[in-house]
Amino acid sequence: MQKSILIIGACGQIGTELTMALREKYGNDSVVASDIREGSENLMRSGPFELLDATNYEAIEDVVMHYEIAEVYLMAAMLSATAEKFPMRAWNLNMNSLFNVLNLAKEKKIDKIFWPSSIAVFGPNTPKNETPQHTLMEPSTVYGISKQSGERWCEYYFKKFGVDVRSVRYPGLISWKTQPGGGTTDYAVEIFHKALSEKKYTSFLNEETKLPMMYMDDAIRATISLMDANNGDLSIRSSYNLGAMSFTPEELAACIQNHIPDFEIRYEPDFRQEIANSWPASVDDAKASQDWGWAPEFDLGKTTEVMLRNLRQ
Ligand code: SER
Repeated sequence: MQKSILIIGACGQIGTELTMALREKYGNDSVVASDIREGSENLMRSGPFELLDATNYEAIEDVVMHYEIAEVYLMAAMLSATAEKFPMRAWNLNMNSLFNVLNLAKEKKIDKIFWPSSIAVFGPNTPKNETPQHTLMEPSTVYGISKQSGERWCEYYFKKFGVDVRSVRYPGLISWKTQPGGGTTDYAVEIFHKALSEKKYTSFLNEETKLPMMYMDDAIRATISLMDANNGDLSIRSSYNLGAMSFTPEELAACIQNHIPDFEIRYEPDFRQEIANSWPASVDDAKASQDWGWAPEFDLGKTTEVMLRNLRQ
């Protein structure tokens, strides 16, 4: 029998594409999508779906038992910009959802967990360029504090209880199928929509804010390769640095201008500038390459080309 997989937060930016990729790999009926709201027609029609609140342990346990779930991908979270507005709600969602799945694994009700961390675990005192896997981490955002705490708990559950939990620190993710919501790196998706609809964009980050970014196909491939890796090959049980490209809003705009010459960008930094200033400009992901063969395929040029081509259609 195929192993059964549950994705919690399946209707979000990552969850939507991850669900479809896992359905393609393991068969539609083996991959149960869940979220607190319904998702795209494609996702809803292609396989099982459950309305599920990630903070409700019993509800998750019921779904796990009903579908005989072996692996859980916990993609539900409140992102950095929204979390600054609702700190306690963010803490509650981001931490309790994680404890729920860690405890299900501790009780041997599931075998394996994927939980995403983020570049937000780093802080203003972290080395900014080629940020090492192991370094000073003093996150200064609510979201970053929750992800940093989550990493500590993942490693703890692995060491104390043998829980097979795997994680990557995603950079900002760029995709055309589902929009992100409430993040600081969202400008890098919005800009493509506005470039096509209005030929102009006002960036909420200034022109020289360099951040680590990744095209969604690379992020999905990284996630699935890490979950496929041999247990014994994994030396990191907090979360792996994961890199692909780094650019500023000005560099991204210049790349878009290669395709849309009259595209214009303006800058009006808001509260998200301070969040971005506390994050790395680039990360050293050598551990991910060594342990499970990570290598990105999309650079800025290729990402710009696929984004514009797909959004035009
Ligand atoms: N992309 C996320 C955010 O901006 C970071 O993980 O909040």
